[in-house]
Amino acid sequence: MYRTHNCGELRLQQAGQEVTLSGWVQRTRDKGFMLWIDLRDRYGVTQLIFSEEKSTPELMAQARTLGREFVVMVKGVVIERVAKNDKMPTGDIELEVRELTVLNAAKLPPFTIEDDTDGGDDLRMKYRYLDLRRSPVQRNIIFRSNLALETRKYLSGEGFIEVETPFLIKSTPEGARDFVVPSRMNPGQFYALPQSPQTFKQILMVAGLDKYFQIVKCFRDEDLRADRQPEFTQIDCEMAFVTQEEILNTFEGLTRHLFKTTLGIDLPTFPRMNYDEAMRRFGSDKPDLRFGMEFVELNDVAQGKGFQVFDGAELVAGICAEGQAEMTRKQIDELTEWVKRPQIGAKGLVYVKCAADGTYKSSVDKFFGEADLKAWADKMGAKPGDMLFVLSGEAEKTRKQLSELRLELGRRLGLMKPGEFKPLWVVDFPLLEWDEETQRFYAMHHPFTSPKRADVAKMLSGDHATLKGLRADAYDLVLNGVEIGGGSIRIHDRGLQAKNFQLLGFTPEEAERQFGFLMGAFEFGAPPHGGIAFGFDRLCSVMNGQNSIRDFIAFPKNNMGRDMMIDAPSEIAEAQLGELQIRLDLKD
Ligand code: AMO
Repeated sequence: MYRTHNCGELRLQQAGQEVTLSGWVQRTRDKGFMLWIDLRDRYGVTQLIFSEEKSTPELMAQARTLGREFVVMVKGVVIERVAKNDKMPTGDIELEVRELTVLNAAKLPPFTIEDDTDGGDDLRMKYRYLDLRRSPVQRNIIFRSNLALETRKYLSGEGFIEVETPFLIKSTPEGARDFVVPSRMNPGQFYALPQSPQTFKQILMVAGLDKYFQIVKCFRDEDLRADRQPEFTQIDCEMAFVTQEEILNTFEGLTRHLFKTTLGIDLPTFPRMNYDEAMRRFGSDKPDLRFGMEFVELNDVAQGKGFQVFDGAELVAGICAEGQAEMTRKQIDELTEWVKRPQIGAKGLVYVKCAADGTYKSSVDKFFGEADLKAWADKMGAKPGDMLFVLSGEAEKTRKQLSELRLELGRRLGLMKPGEFKPLWVVDFPLLEWDEETQRFYAMHHPFTSPKRADVAKMLSGDHATLKGLRADAYDLVLNGVEIGGGSIRIHDRGLQAKNFQLLGFTPEEAERQFGFLMGAFEFGAPPHGGIAFGFDRLCSVMNGQNSIRDFIAFPKNNMGRDMMIDAPSEIAEAQLGELQIRLDLKD
């Protein structure tokens, strides 16, 4: 037997007992006549003690041969510690070792395996098995496991059944590129890995399964960011005979259940905001509601005073940073440089200090007198002591820039408080998005999303401007400014689906070739249906107040989409290429 207990469970009440523990050597402290070792496993750390007084010289010598990360088994007696450590759950006791067995030696690890590590990202990824030994990372992986378990409990309690859908499929357009897999038995043909199980879950509704869910891997070849991985996991769901209202309520219920059972948190109500309002008030379809700083449009008070930049702008809009009038010149210059970076792309930043004595000072004093600035401040509901920031230009761009500035101020001013959660449903997304560059419409959510019932007639006969204004029964769940999930009511009528493909630039033949199976299924009694998918990795990271999803994924990819541990992707043997009848012709 390797162990009678784990390294996290011994307490004073076991004092005097003989026990066996197994684990990894985390750290050794050698005082000559006494030697301590921290022994670690998934459950915690227990201090081992060896002493000249109690241990044989052989045992002392043997203990001195142990290096970091050696795997050992020890037998000994639990004793009360003289100097207790109230920071450790096992801090009242230590194990007086009688017998030590080295189960496996270890090379010196390339970074420290403690809560705070000195390992850089790439090194930690290359030696992911060592990184995973660190307790913050283990805690994340355990959290993820609990979250999956609670998801299954809740959804099966609501009558959902878990169905696995295939990974080797035909492309499902969700807006990214596909990862493809060549087929040996069908030379020259490729499977695509699913960007999501979208079409399959709809087919399951046609099949009458009524309520489906799956915790499922999805694959998207897109540019990576902290909250994006090429393979990630969704809680994917679909329901038949369902309205948007019922879907929102069901998944608000799931979210509440997950917060309550894993974090012990009761979430506040989930407000709803339509897409247009979110864009107007926050310049974003995923506003972070942990702080205010809503946009105020200033065109009527800021234009026509001779300031060319504003006069020629489609939109002049500002935000009010409460109590920030004392911001220094240097801080304002930094913010100005920040919005002028190419990633944000603003031409400049106008500020107005609303001084505590009721006077106003701005970067555009040449064009605007006190009365003008006061009019801005009044419109923005600013008080003495506040600071206003104003951007202008083409409306859509300006809103995006101001939204970035709002978030940056939120970060700099510490307004995104850890432990605070603000959920929000954003609803009524546009159905179609016009792209100037390619001169065509794209589906805002995906091509299977239904227009609102009131917009169906307009979709069937509308001109370009009407099409731009179509609204969909599509919704996103936003949590602290992160898009956690998205879904929609689907089209379940062949004719309407064909029309949507046509608007998206498919010829009837292309639509038939790619999605004939789905439109065919719609002809055999497809029920009205709809659903949603949550980004499972994102949910984990947001619930834990972290930005990156990587540490909630056991084996993530780096920014170049590489798995540093197994070194993938990699070349394959000539023979394998031959079997697939693939000839490489790589350009440099
Ligand atoms: P959507 O494309 O909005 O919808 O995806 C659902 C959720 O998945 C998460 N997500 C990601 N997480 C990590 N890395 C990525 N690369 C990534 N891409 C998306 C987001 C997102 O909200 N089939 C539809 C759902 C439906 O209509 O039912 C879909 O996949 O949190």
